[in-house]
Amino acid sequence: MASKSVGFLGCGKIGKALLAHLTSRGDHTIGFIQDPNFVNDCDAACPIVAEFDESVCRADLVVECASGEVLKSNYAHYLRFADMVVFSMSAFSDTDFAEKTFEVCRANNTRIYFPHGAILGLDGIFDAREVLSSAEIETVKSPKTLGRDDRERRVVYAGDTRGAVEMFPRNANVHAAIALAGIGFDKTRSTIISDPDTDTNSHAISVSGDGIEFKLDIRSRATSGVSGQYTPLSACGSLDRILGGDAKHQFV
Ligand SMILES: NC(=O)c1ccc[n+]([C@@H]2O[C@H](COP(=O)([O-])OP(=O)(O)OC[C@H]3O[C@@H](n4cnc5c(N)ncnc54)[C@H](O)[C@@H]3O)[C@@H](O)[C@H]2O)c1
Repeated sequence: MASKSVGFLGCGKIGKALLAHLTSRGDHTIGFIQDPNFVNDCDAACPIVAEFDESVCRADLVVECASGEVLKSNYAHYLRFADMVVFSMSAFSDTDFAEKTFEVCRANNTRIYFPHGAILGLDGIFDAREVLSSAEIETVKSPKTLGRDDRERRVVYAGDTRGAVEMFPRNANVHAAIALAGIGFDKTRSTIISDPDTDTNSHAISVSGDGIEFKLDIRSRATSGVSGQYTPLSACGSLDRILGGDAKHQFV
């Protein structure tokens, strides 16, 4: 298997978990880190830049784990020569942006990977998308995670997923993921609940269509920031599957 170079656009909680994982694998290289606030408490030995720099930011695969806005400002640099893994999927509710990224991929023979992130089952939902008629996702997080100060449990958003993503771009990436894999941002229904008594990020997903019904109930302990306990683990698994390797068995 050929060794690949992996670059990072944003390197906070998810990025550092991936960095440590790649370093422990040892069979691929870290090309660069682009992050204006990067704190090098993990002995990263690659070039570190605050902004895109053509002479430094070279890699076969670039992992975006910053924000939708950062992705929008940088995707065109990277998709010209590298594949990307994108964690800030909320950005794809912007139809113009989505079309432009796919166009850059087509023109340059590059691709975007959407990781399953904080949830699971995106592959199965994507496989069933042609027969799906309904998709719903309900997320419960603490007010702190949502950037609020509610003292009582309350529904803070109910409606289509496009609106959820607009209101909570950093906390509704899983809603965007379900919409992208399934029936889109306008038909997917989203509910977001702020609950001061919860210490988890939980996602209840119901998807149905012709002869099909899936229900997924996913809970992950909340940590500081927006990403729960599970996301860094799932991110490492997704990266392994993209890079390939000598795993003796794989779930596909
Ligand atoms: N798809 C999912 O299921 C899922 C799950 C969790 C988080 N996320 C998303 O993934 C992203 C990263 O999450 P995280 O927990 O690692 O966040 P984090 O806050 O720990 O890290 C974000 C990093 O981006 C950096 N950054 C800020 N401005 C930048 C810029 N202009 N250029 C480059 N980097 C910049 C920050 O300095 C920080 O290091 C967020 O958008 C988050 O909403 C997605």
